[in-house]
Parts: sequence; structure tokens; C-alpha cells
Amino acid sequence: MSNTPHAPAPVASEHIELKARNVSFGWEDTPLHWLPGDPFATHTINVLHLLLPAGERWFVHVYKQVLPYVKDEQLRADVVGFIGQEAMHAAAHDDVLPHLKRLGLDPTPYTAQVDWLFEKLLGDRTLPPGKARHWWLMERVALIAAIEHYTAFLGDWVLNADELDRRGADPVMLDLLRWHGAEEVEHRSVAFDLFMHVDGGYHRRARTWATAFTALVFLWQRGARFFMENDPELPAAKASLGQFFRAGRQGTLPSAGAMLKSIPTYLSRSYHPSQEGSTAQAVAYLASSPGANGGATA
Ligand SMILES: [Fe+2]
Ligand SMILES: [Fe+2]
Repeated sequence: MSNTPHAPAPVASEHIELKARNVSFGWEDTPLHWLPGDPFATHTINVLHLLLPAGERWFVHVYKQVLPYVKDEQLRADVVGFIGQEAMHAAAHDDVLPHLKRLGLDPTPYTAQVDWLFEKLLGDRTLPPGKARHWWLMERVALIAAIEHYTAFLGDWVLNADELDRRGADPVMLDLLRWHGAEEVEHRSVAFDLFMHVDGGYHRRARTWATAFTALVFLWQRGARFFMENDPELPAAKASLGQFFRAGRQGTLPSAGAMLKSIPTYLSRSYHPSQEGSTAQAVAYLASSPGANGGATA
């Protein structure tokens, strides 16, 4: 690792061995508006269930291709642990979708588009072996590092979002979000370390951040609108930017200010994911998560 003043500066910490935890969540008693009285925040967070199954399976697909390029044994073990965790996250969020459908909110029209995005647009493409194929693999590795900046941001947020507890959020949904969020915090350095190991170019990092950020904003607002407009209990409901700012101020969603602040953080040349979030907090949550410790939390 370079010691130049602008090089990424990891915070010294004990290395955590990453492992996928078996989880079990029982959805029978979770209401449609699992954050009582706040369908907008409920559905904005529900967008995770639309994006993550296809998105995290795509992470796994790309990382299996990049493993042969990893020359560091510790990093290889981290990437393998990351793959196991992300596969479990995708499956756990996928399990929520039939429950939403039973409650009258069929997510299929939206998830079909998300599947196309990850499988076709961001898929392998028919490229000749060599430079072009390598370029496309590195672009995707950099994109995943940028997306993981936001999964870690959201993980840290949800672990500390006490307002969700105060408002009586459904305990099963909260546990799913916090188990996933805690593992995102736990493995927050892996995607960045992998990108730095196999490429590390600053221009690529900045360019793919811009792509990832734009795509996430676009997909998220579209997903929230989709849920609000198709909510069987809310005829004629709409999602709006005003609701988003209000939820951020109230603490039921991340604030716009915190999201804006995360931009220069990622673009700083000395950024390293270990500078943010708390591994100790994540590990403590994982030790107490009902869903991750052998029991359905219904
Ligand atoms: Fe994940
Ligand atoms: Fe992740």
C-alpha cells in the first residue's frame, strides 16, 4: 500500500473473517405498511426488495469472474466470504416479494425491468477475450465498489435509525434490514479493496461512481413511485420529493444532507470504507439478531 498523502487510508482494525449467516424470517404477521402510518418511508425502504435480489446476484456473478485476478490470499478469502453473504442477502429480500404480492402489491412489473438491467445491460455481453472483456469486467468491479459505498451507508444508517423503533416498525422487517445492514458494514471494505487490487484507477472510480449514483437515484425514485401508485390501501397516492425531505428530517429515512455528504467522501483520494461505520456495532447486532440466530422472528 502506498504511503503518499492521497492514498486510501484504511483505519487499523482487527480483521473479521466474513461468513454467510443462515437466516430465517417469518413474514406472516408483517403488515403492508410495516412502518405504521408512514407508507412513503415504508415503500422507499421496500425498494430494497426490488433491487437487491437481482443486484446482489449480479455482484456474485461478476466476482466469480474476477477471483482469478486476485493475487492476495486474505483478499481472496474476503471476496469468497462477501460472495456468500451477498447470495444470502439476495435470497432473503426475494422472500419478501411473495408476501407483498399476497398483500395486494405485485412487484413483478418492476422486478422484470430490474432483472433486465442486471442480466442484460450489465451482463457479460458478447465480447472477444482480451482487452475489451477485461475492460468491461473492471468497469463492473468499480461499479460494485461504488454501490457498496451506498449499501454500507444505508447499513450504518439503519443500525442507528432509532426513529424506526420509536414508531413501532414491524420487528421482522427491522431485523431483516439490520441483519443485512450489519453485514454490509462488516464487509464494507471488500469491494473497494478488490477494486484497488485489480485496477484502482481514480478516473474509473469517479466515473463509475457517477454512473452508480445516477442509476440508484433513478431506480429508487421510480421504485418508490411504483409502490405508492400500486398500493391497494392508498388509491391515488403519489411519491414526492417533499415526502423524502420530510422523512429525512424525521429520521425515518436517511437525510438528504447525509446523502450529499457521502459524495465527496467517496471521491476523496484518501477515502477508505473502514473510515466510516462501526464493525463493533455491526458484530454486536449480528450476535443478537433473532433472524440470524436460528429462529424466525415472527
Ligand atoms: Fe448485501
Ligand atoms: Fe454488500
